[in-house]
Amino acid sequence: MIIAIDGPAASGKGTLGKRLAAHYGLRHLDTGLIYRAVAKALVDAGCSLHDRDRAAAAAADLDPEKFDEKALKSHEIGEAASIVSAIPEVRQALLAFQRGFAAAPPGAVLDGRDIGTVIAPDADVKIFVTAAPEERARRRAAEIGTPEAPADEAAILADILRRDARDQARPVAPLKPAPDAHLLDTTHLSIDAAVRAAVDIVEAVRAGRGRG
Ligand code: DC
Repeated sequence: MIIAIDGPAASGKGTLGKRLAAHYGLRHLDTGLIYRAVAKALVDAGCSLHDRDRAAAAAADLDPEKFDEKALKSHEIGEAASIVSAIPEVRQALLAFQRGFAAAPPGAVLDGRDIGTVIAPDADVKIFVTAAPEERARRRAAEIGTPEAPADEAAILADILRRDARDQARPVAPLKPAPDAHLLDTTHLSIDAAVRAAVDIVEAVRAGRGRG
């Protein structure tokens, strides 16, 4: 079984992907990490994020086994990833790896922006996760802030809105729900409730009652 999860920044799709994969005994790929790794390679090398050749070379050179998830999850690298991910050559270089991951038995949960539309258009189940931007900013601030150094929620909200606009407006593989995706709005759901709702969607599809 292949489950495709797409959605905007900080929508909770990563947590949902991980939990769904554990629930069904599937492998999980957070595809945002791959774009983040390309961005970090450019930043570390002091290259422009708009250098198409260097970005494509960095994408072709990636070794996901060596990803340092903590370093890749920084806010700055997320912003940079949104820029490099708009380069068609970068997306092309990462296509085969993602499709190979999805196709290997026993199946997988992939989360990102274009899983249901480009990477796995034949996925068994597609879920498009959304949440109000203000709620996403609140969650992200709670995640990265500490009592001593609270995060700047307004700045995070501005970044989220900018990232949404960039990810939705790019000509290649823009962020948008596949026509057969099931929408899951987590604005008013706890993580556990969102996981239950996602499992319900998967079960409905498996029982032949869903659309996906
Ligand atoms: O999900 P994330 O915040 O880790 O993703 C970081 C950036 O990577 C996001 O702004 C857009 C890009 N991305 C993408 O273009 N396609 C994907 N499948 C996953 C992420």
